[in-house]
Amino acid sequence: MEIKYNYLPQEFSDTDEIITQWKKLITSTEFTLGTFVTDFESKFAQFMNAEYCISTNNGTDALILALKCLNIGMGDEVITVTNTFYATVGAIVAVGATPVLIDCDDRFQIDIEKIRKSITKKTKAVIPVHWAGSSPAMKKITEICNQFNLFLIEDACMGIGASIAGKSAGTFGDINAFSMHPLKSLNVMGDGGMVLTNNAEYASWMLKYRNHGMIDRDNIEFWGVNMRLQPLQAIVASFGLDKLGDVLNKRRANARQLDNALSKLIEAGHLDLPRRVETHYETCALYMGLFTKRDELKEYLQKRGVETKIHYPKPLHLQQAARKNCKFDSNDMVNSEHQARHLLTIPIHQFLGKNAIKYITDQIFMFYEGHPV
Ligand SMILES: Cc1ncc(COP(=O)(O)O)c(C=O)c1O
Repeated sequence: MEIKYNYLPQEFSDTDEIITQWKKLITSTEFTLGTFVTDFESKFAQFMNAEYCISTNNGTDALILALKCLNIGMGDEVITVTNTFYATVGAIVAVGATPVLIDCDDRFQIDIEKIRKSITKKTKAVIPVHWAGSSPAMKKITEICNQFNLFLIEDACMGIGASIAGKSAGTFGDINAFSMHPLKSLNVMGDGGMVLTNNAEYASWMLKYRNHGMIDRDNIEFWGVNMRLQPLQAIVASFGLDKLGDVLNKRRANARQLDNALSKLIEAGHLDLPRRVETHYETCALYMGLFTKRDELKEYLQKRGVETKIHYPKPLHLQQAARKNCKFDSNDMVNSEHQARHLLTIPIHQFLGKNAIKYITDQIFMFYEGHPV
């Protein structure tokens, strides 16, 4: 059996509905902003139970837009986690602020106690990441931000559709960022992103900044940039949102099947899986476990047709780029460094059925125990 990590050919094998809407767009020639974009923004805000959605060109822009709106820049520190995608930190550097990188916990999520310890007079904001589509303890993070008067910006790029006790990931912070990159739970055919906020002033500022600071065609209020979502992608996103519930149900069922089958390897000491929190609804963006003999296992699976990934082999404080701009304590990164050495991301996507997941777990068992599950 061949199990590819990439499921986009299956996902976009039938695009008739999308193309019908694209034809309408082409007839309308509303190629920048316009009703296709605003319709999607309203639909997403409603889905998330938030007041305002401002779509952007991608998730990185969404983070930059949030930071700019909160006036975070030169001389300010922003605390975030070291095991995230480059863009979380890149966005902080892009606005001229200093990323303060801290370790993650055993669930791959930002270590809350280390947030407290890293707060200085210069700290302006915290950016927790809903890493892998799971969530950190947002209630506690919100309390810390309130206590120390810090802005909270959620990086919910991997967390569209996740929730904690029924409250959506990406609705806890002041302004929160999402990505619709092709490998996200809500994805488009290229790049896309958005921010959510419940603050009318922030929303009004971001709407303008995203579009050159324009009040109307002939007047600008302040200098802005072009971060606009393409209407072609707004159409794709709108169809994607209708299917999101189904996609997440399938991914979660696959995750449960993997959890159940692999639990025996935990007892045998070959594997460590992040603890799942009952009140957290995960998007299962990435299914990651910490495996002994990870690199040999990866190669073994590859030879048997199972394509796996590593997210990521290097936490950000170990990247060359972190030698400049970033602040961190390299002696206090035990979890992220341990995880980077052992983690393997197993395919879990919505087009894999029970047999495919069984095939994967059988191969993993063959590797460790010499027999299928
Ligand atoms: C955690 C995280 N933050 C930010 C981003 C950036 O999003 P984008 O690729 O849409 O710019 C991504 C995804 O790529 C991500 O996974």
